[in-house]
Amino acid sequence: MQKSILRKIEIRQGDITRLQVDAIVNAANSSLLGGGGVDGAIHRAAGPQLLEECRSLGGCPTGEARITKGYQLPAAHVIHTVGPVYHRMNPVQAENLLEQCYRNSLTLAADSGLSSIAFPAISCGVYGYPIEDACRIAVDSACRFLQDNPSIQQVVFILFSESDRQVYERHLASIR
Ligand code: APR
Repeated sequence: MQKSILRKIEIRQGDITRLQVDAIVNAANSSLLGGGGVDGAIHRAAGPQLLEECRSLGGCPTGEARITKGYQLPAAHVIHTVGPVYHRMNPVQAENLLEQCYRNSLTLAADSGLSSIAFPAISCGVYGYPIEDACRIAVDSACRFLQDNPSIQQVVFILFSESDRQVYERHLASIR
């Protein structure tokens, strides 16, 4: 993978709600009306106006992405995407839908004129996606997108646990 692409990718461990990037990505559900996990953390940190705007969006199908303001978050925007529920489908379908989450979120960010975006490990919590497979899909789809879209300057993958961060570091090292 070209060094110029890899230089734009960062892997961190921590809380996505504290990141000051143009957009943080929310691992939402199709109602877009909030939930637990990172969805709950983002809504708590953004404040009630986020839910108010989400209500106006009328939901979001799995694999697609929607953008809102960030309100009380340090990030200017939230990009909500709905990951696949791993055990509800075959692995090929799940992989295609997860790849769509990353590609559609990056496309929405680029089309909105944003240059920095942070992703959690979409579907790797409640939705049960194995972290190693999801990490490969996340990093590889981001690299492909960055090759064709130089307007995105920074993609941060932020992992809640140190062990998840190490999974991402190992994969990134394998494609350097
Ligand atoms: N910052 C970064 N990552 C976080 C945070 C946070 N504050 N909180 C949780 N995570 C991590 C989890 O550890 C997991 O690795 O985000 C990843 C995604 O986990 P979930 O939040 O459970 O999301 P997902 O598996 O996509 O399930 C989505 O859960 O919260 C509900 O409404 C949501 O129904 C939807 C479902």
